[in-house]
Amino acid sequence: MSYPYQIKDLAGYHEAYQKSIQTPDAFWGEVAENFTWQKKWDKVSDWNFKEPSIKWFIGGKLNITENCLDRHLETMGEKPAIIWEPNDPAESHRIITYKQLHLKVCQFAQVLYNNGVKKGDRVCLYMGMIPELAIAVLACARIGAIHSVIFGGFSAQSIADRLDDAKANFIITCDGAYRGAKDIPLKSVIDDALVGNKNIQRVIVCTRTRTAVSMLKGRDVWWEDEIKKVAAQGTQFVPAEAMDAEDPLFILYTSGSTGKPKGVVHSVAGYMVYTNYTFVNTFNYHPDDIFFCTADIGWITGHSYMVYAPLSAGGTSMMFEGIPTFPDAGRFWDIIDKFKVNILYTAPTAIRSLMGFGLGPVKEHDLSSLKVLGTVGEPINEEAWNWYNEHIGKNKCPIVDTWWQTETGGIMISNMAGITPGKAGWATYPMPGIEPVLVDDKGEEVVKTTSDEEPGILRGNLCIKQAWPSTIRTTYGDHERCRTNYFATYDNLYFTGDGAFRNEAGQYRITGRVDDVLNVSGHRIGTAEVENAINMHAGVVESAVVGYPHDIKGQGIYAFVIYTGSHAQDTHGTADMVRKDILQTVTRIIGPIAKPDKIQFVSGLPKTRSGKIMRRILRKVAEGELTSLGDTSTLLDPAVVDEIVKGVL
Ligand code: WT7
Repeated sequence: MSYPYQIKDLAGYHEAYQKSIQTPDAFWGEVAENFTWQKKWDKVSDWNFKEPSIKWFIGGKLNITENCLDRHLETMGEKPAIIWEPNDPAESHRIITYKQLHLKVCQFAQVLYNNGVKKGDRVCLYMGMIPELAIAVLACARIGAIHSVIFGGFSAQSIADRLDDAKANFIITCDGAYRGAKDIPLKSVIDDALVGNKNIQRVIVCTRTRTAVSMLKGRDVWWEDEIKKVAAQGTQFVPAEAMDAEDPLFILYTSGSTGKPKGVVHSVAGYMVYTNYTFVNTFNYHPDDIFFCTADIGWITGHSYMVYAPLSAGGTSMMFEGIPTFPDAGRFWDIIDKFKVNILYTAPTAIRSLMGFGLGPVKEHDLSSLKVLGTVGEPINEEAWNWYNEHIGKNKCPIVDTWWQTETGGIMISNMAGITPGKAGWATYPMPGIEPVLVDDKGEEVVKTTSDEEPGILRGNLCIKQAWPSTIRTTYGDHERCRTNYFATYDNLYFTGDGAFRNEAGQYRITGRVDDVLNVSGHRIGTAEVENAINMHAGVVESAVVGYPHDIKGQGIYAFVIYTGSHAQDTHGTADMVRKDILQTVTRIIGPIAKPDKIQFVSGLPKTRSGKIMRRILRKVAEGELTSLGDTSTLLDPAVVDEIVKGVL
């Protein structure tokens, strides 16, 4: 496999960038020529941000799995597509070649057909990080069913909400999942989520931990039994459904500033072309490289850069079931050494947590196979960047700092390994096809620097001017929500929700969210969602949630809670018990990932006369900046601030 669209040097980047902005259709049309189409497109793009209506490769017919699997069989059927490392290093790893993966995907596609799944059905996947998850994803894509993967850390209630929103009719899950020293009872969580659900016709359960599970007659079937049936039928091949370029490929739920997660929809062709292009160019991927993305497939990073992009590029994708600190903090380094990984793509939070274990676990392993390092999910602090560069990359691997979002489908702003220069803490340059712009709160383009200390640096809200092939298409079931969330804040711009700096060289530094969304360990959590969950706890009158700097997670969750139950006032130390009860409630409603790190009980919240909570003040308190709270004169009751400051945790 070769990539004619692979950028070779800095001049090549500038050339590609110019072309992509001046003549985007010609540019992307040329890239798209390198894929397998059942029918070529009639027109490359047609879009407007008003509705929004975004279409790419209009009239084209294809199936992404033919691009990820079938087209590689002849030349590299024996090449490893997926290398899987289990949670427990004592268990054997698995190597799945393209030929084997193709067969498994076809067989499971037949299982889906046998169980009544049709093109356009929504199939929810709630599984651990085992190859069967990638197989299930691809099998859905093969028959044109829309997959919606839910991260294993979400609760039954969250799953129920998503099933309902997606009007899902099928579920694929596992009996359980291994994560470090824990076994997570996935099927049992699904059973809780399904109480009262009328839409789900079938639950397919893959065996992993062999924990006891209940299997309801007529609804639940075992993955392995179903595979045996298709093997007995002799199924070796299932034709790939002809998909329209704009047919939806998947729904992935993500948090916003309202209480309810949004189902971000990506469509087949644009997503395929853009993720492949950015994979090859950001990481400077060469066909024999072993690419290790440490994300979970439950997040967009896993969808794009563990499954679809590496496979559509005919690459080898490393998949790891466990966590970086199990059985010890050398696990990533052990995997890199064992499989001679060439490219490592991970999150700053993982780097920071591993830094805390010192160099011992690093030194035991040979990391000389590494050529390129990447980060994603949150801004990387200089200390973590330096450690990654020096101790993991041994000062010889470029680090790509890739900024993007669930909604963007693929990498938007990043340096390109060995092509464009990196800069600690800076995502740097836009990818070809991406035209960023910084605007002020009124939507005016920022052209003047506001800081004397850093001349030439512009600061603003980060927006994107033109559609790119993997732009979000809609939020499932509610297009208006997509419009108001992303396309209505500023006229004719996609608004990212992030703030950014731009320097005179045109490089970007992402400063973080400017809306009420937190980034905890690289995971997006809406403050309103956490507040809703806390408010469901009996005795809680009201709450306000803000982020604060956290050494490892990037941001921690700080909750101010008005509680009227008797326990908080009890003098026998039971406030701590109430805190635990509240954490339990949040775990039930959202999942453990949304548990506040700190809960402060207060008797009131700082509100304006119109009843709006002044989060600015709470943020300062949570950050420990108690002396510079700013103007509090517009508050309804300035005295609550004194109380809050006194009680700060
Ligand atoms: C938000 C998107 C994209 C995959 C993982 C997260 C933040 C992401 C970076 C980066 C600074 C980053 C932004 C963005 N973010 N990458 N390299 N530098 N911030 O996907 O859950 O959709 O979250 O993550 O705030 O808006 P997501």
